[in-house]
Amino acid sequence: MSTQHDTEPSGRHSLFRTKTVEQSIQDTEEPDHALKKSLSALDLTVFGVGVIIGTGIFVLTGAVAKNNAGPATALAFVVAGVVCALAAVCYAEFASTVPVAGSAYTFSYASLGELPAWIIGWDLVLEFALATAVVAVGWSGYVQSLLDNAGWHLPHALAGTDAEEGFGFDLLAFLLVLLLTGILVLGMKLSARVTTVVVAIKVAVVLIVIIAGAFYIDSANYSPFIPKAEEQPSGGGLNSPLIQLMFGYAPTNFGVMGIFTAASVVFFAFIGFDIVATAAEETKDPQRDMPRGILGSLIICTVLYVAVSIVVTGMQKYTKLTVDAPLADAFKATGHPFYSGVISFGAAVGLTTVCMILLLGQTRVFFAMSRDGLLPRVFSHVHPKFRTPYRSTVLLGVIIAIVAGFTSIEELASLVNIGTLFAFVVVAIGVVILRRTRPDLPRSFRAPLVPWLPAASVLASLWLMLNLPAETWLRFAVWMAVGVVVYFVYGRAHSRLGNSR
Ligand code: ALA
Repeated sequence: MSTQHDTEPSGRHSLFRTKTVEQSIQDTEEPDHALKKSLSALDLTVFGVGVIIGTGIFVLTGAVAKNNAGPATALAFVVAGVVCALAAVCYAEFASTVPVAGSAYTFSYASLGELPAWIIGWDLVLEFALATAVVAVGWSGYVQSLLDNAGWHLPHALAGTDAEEGFGFDLLAFLLVLLLTGILVLGMKLSARVTTVVVAIKVAVVLIVIIAGAFYIDSANYSPFIPKAEEQPSGGGLNSPLIQLMFGYAPTNFGVMGIFTAASVVFFAFIGFDIVATAAEETKDPQRDMPRGILGSLIICTVLYVAVSIVVTGMQKYTKLTVDAPLADAFKATGHPFYSGVISFGAAVGLTTVCMILLLGQTRVFFAMSRDGLLPRVFSHVHPKFRTPYRSTVLLGVIIAIVAGFTSIEELASLVNIGTLFAFVVVAIGVVILRRTRPDLPRSFRAPLVPWLPAASVLASLWLMLNLPAETWLRFAVWMAVGVVVYFVYGRAHSRLGNSR
């Protein structure tokens, strides 16, 4: 055990006791708690693209163009992409310095201390679990639309919840999560192979939208490019962005502020690059491959998103875009049902990997927290044959399947966004702190312009958070308060770090 802590002001009883980076890496080498190292930079990029392109571009683009930004949705993607790029640079430095499972959770444990690490881990559990459920429900919608084309209809009670017909259990979403849980228990390699094929289909479909769609653009649809600001009906209430309530503006849609509101929603489309970092422990050469995997997948996705949103808002007037399947419906509206079918099929296939990788990220965070004793240790035993953390995978898989069965997308997506943005803030602060406290650590990837770049990342993430609805802030506050209670009741007393010295 390192003697580093003995000289540190934060003692073993401190809420800010930190786990050294060496200790984190050493933990990954314990035979019963070690994951297999099998991923390359290409695997990571495929992984990243596999999880990043999903419900965000396939579903949310339509709603955001229609309600918040019009053709300027492309600018919203640029804004969200810039926020993510800043965070990605910080993630890349951290992941190449602390290459162990757990993403922002592990990073925070090494830099900020145990309580902040617990908070971020708890936050990531929320992010990944709900995001998995959101994507499973989105997938179910596309599959049902394909089934409808073939003349098969699920009974309403098993077809999920929607605004018009009310509650229904989402059987397909439930089954998808259980199936993916099984695949993950069988091992990384199988998952990565399946992912590669599916990612190829998904990217091909996105390229079809861009290339085929470009021929059907009507430039009249781009005018006005930034629609004039409109007051929200009945003042918006808790649905309004916090920033507008804080500064007492009459809440509006569209206009320049609408671009930022849109950015805080389509931000969901970028979630996932941070998950690449959660696979650090399973990467052959994390020092080199992590930064490549994270930044590579983010750049590819940003370019595709901007192109897709420009094409789609050019094909159809933004007021006419649909909310459930905007990309496929834009082709239908311009008289090309064949493309529409292909796109629905690709979306349904593509969302499968998104769901799987989100689930994987989630189980790895839980695994890391359990290995540290902050959650019961029983969840961090790896399977003797498959070398996967099967207990946490099964537990969380079942819970998420149930959540996916019972909830609707809209309620959850913004909660996922606020949680993710919060993690970005913590990671950016962590980069600066770790540079000061452990300047000696080898960093194969160093973020430029520290501390200015991380500071810009913090401000940019906070800005998007402030553009989320006030009620999202309330829900987030409740979840985090529960987390703090769990820490003081269980984690603090059982922490391996607290009991080790
Ligand atoms: N970025 C992922 C999606 O859009 C989570 O579905």
